Amino acid sequence: MAKYQDFTCVKVEIDEEGITWVTFNRPEKRNAMNPTLHFEMLEIMTALENDNDCKVIVLTGAGNSWSAGMDLKEYFRETENNPDLGFRATMAHRYWATYVTNWSKKPTIAMVNGYCFGGAFHSLAHCDIVVSADEATYGLSEVNWGIIPGGNVAKVFNNLVNHRDALFYAMTGRTFDGQKAVEMGVANISVPLAQLKEETIKICRELMEKSPMVLAYTKQCVRAVQGMDMTESFEYLGAKALALRTVDPRKTRATGMEEFLDKKTYRPGLQAVKKTS
Ligand code: ACO
Repeated sequence: MAKYQDFTCVKVEIDEEGITWVTFNRPEKRNAMNPTLHFEMLEIMTALENDNDCKVIVLTGAGNSWSAGMDLKEYFRETENNPDLGFRATMAHRYWATYVTNWSKKPTIAMVNGYCFGGAFHSLAHCDIVVSADEATYGLSEVNWGIIPGGNVAKVFNNLVNHRDALFYAMTGRTFDGQKAVEMGVANISVPLAQLKEETIKICRELMEKSPMVLAYTKQCVRAVQGMDMTESFEYLGAKALALRTVDPRKTRATGMEEFLDKKTYRPGLQAVKKTS
């Protein structure tokens, strides 16, 4: 597709099914995130939100790395005397990796094909689903660079894993692989690298069978209730459930009930969803 061609640090390909492969594309620098990458990611993720060709977004990395974290030279050292660039890069990162990825109506999957270090945990944590290669290498290496796991890495890592593991891996900087990432809650699934793409496509197809509006509401609700107490959450979910009935163009709820209760043609959970609309 001709669109999304003008980027230097990120490659975007939308396949015929709607799976959108967003690839950090600095393999020679192990996909370390420099300011340009953040500016491009903000532009790309924002554009994909309303791109009807894009059904699901997969973030991955070119070569043997998902991302080696923030670019120590271009993101840190070279912005020390350029606070304007530093601020814009920080905000672009914060915006695309937190708000856009978190609240996008498109499902977001991190397909971790290799190294994932430091600042890369921030975007990883905000993807909806993480599929890892067994061979991937993860590490909160900040402590070895004389810095803290900032850019909200300490926060998002704490949210994913138990507090003991958060302290252990942040303080030792030890690395772990894909299987350990699943055990700790960093990733959902880990498979041998040779099967990584196939496994990811399988999940994408499963997601694309759902009503996009129901899926968007579902992810946003699961995220939003995290910070709420029981009463707020009841009220919020009640309002969202009512809103969904109105805005879902497929009327999935009504159709599902009719097909299950009356026509007896629909069995959610027991077989693939085959609703008529
Ligand atoms: N920032 C800037 N450049 C980087 C980074 C990074 N985070 N990671 C790798 N690179 C560069 C290297 O400087 C090197 O550049 P050069 O060819 O111009 O010398 C190139 O990428 C290849 O790196 P190598 O170390 O030669 O590659 P190798 O495959 O042997 O190792 C690994 C890969 C393990 C990822 C290693 O590069 C590494 O440890 N990188 C740092 C990872 C890290 O700790 N990231 C966290 C940074 S702090 C933060 O994100 C907040």
